[in-house]
Amino acid sequence: GSWNLHTLSAQLPLDFFVCFSSAAALVGSLGQGNYAAANAFLDGLAHYRQSLGLPGISLNWGPWAETGMATRLGKQHQARLQQQGLTPITPQQGLQVFEQILNYQNPQLGIIQVDWSVFLAKIKSKIIPALFSKLFTKLESKAENIPSLTVETELLNQLKSQKSSNKRQEILIEYLQEQVRQVLKLDSCQTPDPQTGFFDLGMDSLMAIELKNRLATALDMMLASTLIFEFTNIQNLVEHLESEISKNSWSTIQQQETEQKEQKINTTPKFTLKKSKDGKKSISIVNQFAELESLAEDVETLIAVEASITNELAQLENLLNNS
Ligand SMILES: NC(=O)c1ccc[n+]([C@@H]2O[C@H](COP(=O)([O-])OP(=O)(O)OC[C@H]3O[C@@H](n4cnc5c(N)ncnc54)[C@H](OP(=O)(O)O)[C@@H]3O)[C@@H](O)[C@H]2O)c1
Repeated sequence: GSWNLHTLSAQLPLDFFVCFSSAAALVGSLGQGNYAAANAFLDGLAHYRQSLGLPGISLNWGPWAETGMATRLGKQHQARLQQQGLTPITPQQGLQVFEQILNYQNPQLGIIQVDWSVFLAKIKSKIIPALFSKLFTKLESKAENIPSLTVETELLNQLKSQKSSNKRQEILIEYLQEQVRQVLKLDSCQTPDPQTGFFDLGMDSLMAIELKNRLATALDMMLASTLIFEFTNIQNLVEHLESEISKNSWSTIQQQETEQKEQKINTTPKFTLKKSKDGKKSISIVNQFAELESLAEDVETLIAVEASITNELAQLENLLNNS
């Protein structure tokens, strides 16, 4: 639509070409990738028009109160916006700003009523988006109580320390029941049944993404956006996650074992200095070779390591005997 307006009005002497874009294109919006992309197109169009010498500005509005699409959102979504620190813009505020910025020279302007300390504290990613990096550093040095952006791995550690698969499933079920309760804004006395489908419990697609994101953060794992659609109740999801975690834990254990092996191989050998009757000095590392044999992955590696040690030893012995 905006492109049609752009092409059809290209020859008209317009004073303004204003695109009502959304904050979603600027700061992201959970589960609204398509909406963010469509609005980012408006932003790009305003930049493009200005590059052609045509009027063009794109306004990345935060949610408006009293009227418009944001007021038609369900209560849960409105509550989510507030939890992110976003306060709706009243029509009076919006119109006032609109009047002030019409002649603004930049092609794009974000108009968002936001509590940045709350907004930034919600970013769970290990990587802070570049757009907020300076802002975050400023806020962090100002406020001591901004929750840290480190990944909460408490659940993961708890799971990894459990050897029994049943125990791990129990931990996951309890954790998921709490997360589902929070996402669905259920009362503390309401515990979701593990066998009941997420969507039968009242979940929608945005909530499904929120639940997936919570899990990805807690488990420090990449999870598919379709996770909740594929594993449609707590029980199924737990079984899937448990097997994924087991695989990951196994590879971590294997990795640790390899590291330990490497550490052992790299340990300085305990040399024994021997002196024969004729006074000739020699260095013995027999035990070290035995240990190497049990550690080396293959014969070629063993031969190469042994050859290199023997060579070093010969040089050392030479030095010792000629000193
Ligand atoms: N409201 C907000 O909080 C907010 C925040 C950020 C950005 N925005 C952006 O601001 C714009 C307006 O939002 P709004 O809240 O005013 O939305 P809205 O209340 O849903 O109004 C949308 C308007 O677009 C018209 N429309 C829809 N489809 C159309 C089509 N195919 N062809 C021509 N006209 C069409 C509708 O006409 P009819 O009335 O005839 O259906 C209506 O007048 C949207 O692009 C939205 O993304 C809004």
